[in-house]
Amino acid sequence: MKKSIQHQPVMVNEVLFYLIGNDPGVYVDATVGLGGHTKEILSSLTSESRVLGIDLDRAALETAKHNLREYGERVTLVEGNFVDTPKILSRFGIARVDGVLLDLGLSSFQLASDRGFSYRSSSRLDMRFGKGARYSAYDVVNRFGEKMLSDIFYRFGEERFSRQIAKKIVARRKRSSIETSDELAKIVASSIPGRGAVKSLSRVFQALRIFVNDELGNLATALSVLPDLLNPNGRICVISYHSLEDRIVKRRFKELVSSGGFLALTEKPVSPGISEVQENRHSRSAKLRCILRKV
Ligand SMILES: C[S@@+](CC[C@H](N)C(=O)[O-])C[C@H]1O[C@@H](n2cnc3c(N)ncnc32)[C@H](O)[C@@H]1O
Repeated sequence: MKKSIQHQPVMVNEVLFYLIGNDPGVYVDATVGLGGHTKEILSSLTSESRVLGIDLDRAALETAKHNLREYGERVTLVEGNFVDTPKILSRFGIARVDGVLLDLGLSSFQLASDRGFSYRSSSRLDMRFGKGARYSAYDVVNRFGEKMLSDIFYRFGEERFSRQIAKKIVARRKRSSIETSDELAKIVASSIPGRGAVKSLSRVFQALRIFVNDELGNLATALSVLPDLLNPNGRICVISYHSLEDRIVKRRFKELVSSGGFLALTEKPVSPGISEVQENRHSRSAKLRCILRKV
């Protein structure tokens, strides 16, 4: 197998500390990516414990399969959306699980892919994690109206130059369609007065990705179905990288705790330590929240 870009899993010790309770047990890594967290989870559990890994990204799953080959039947990988976790589990005859991990956002593998996630790359604007997304980033950038574009950049990227950027995009695409990530990056950069372009670039690209993959909608749906799948002492851990995601997690966990059946394991979100942030810049905005099912 050719060597591909890997992804360094975030807050591994913290995830293991909060996620693992029952052993033997069945765990779901609902965003398995390249299998970084799954590998650590499997290594810290006894040999009867299993992990079911889900991801939308078929290419990532291929790499995960290779990375996790030493665990044999203890790991099962499934291409799918984590909102469908109940259905996926029932296909394997599993009714209840002991822990679910959601490590949101995108992996370094995807950022380095040719799907247009990075404003530093020159690849076709796509940004879909996998099958099922209604629009690609190309469709959004070339077909959506100015107001809609501006709303996407403002809502999902909190970009204050959203209107100027949307206006420039619409003016530019009248001449020819915007095909690649670097073409879009140039348009965004030229819309920003002064020197703030880098931050705007990452916010605009992030906003498009969040919209294309309906990341906030999927998170809210997942958090409505996953708690019912837990055994007593089962846990849900979520690592988020965006304030809008963290808000959804915080509110839903609060609701579950108020219902009486759940306990917050993290009163405040847990962040990576300084040395992890220095070693892995991708971790810098990570926030981990976990809850436990009492009965
Ligand atoms: C930050 S990466 C996970 C990295 C992983 N923890 C590791 O250590 O390799 C996030 C992953 O979530 C996947 N993903 C995002 N939304 C998803 C969804 N709704 N269902 C399933 N997978 C999803 C992405 O394709 C990506 O591979």
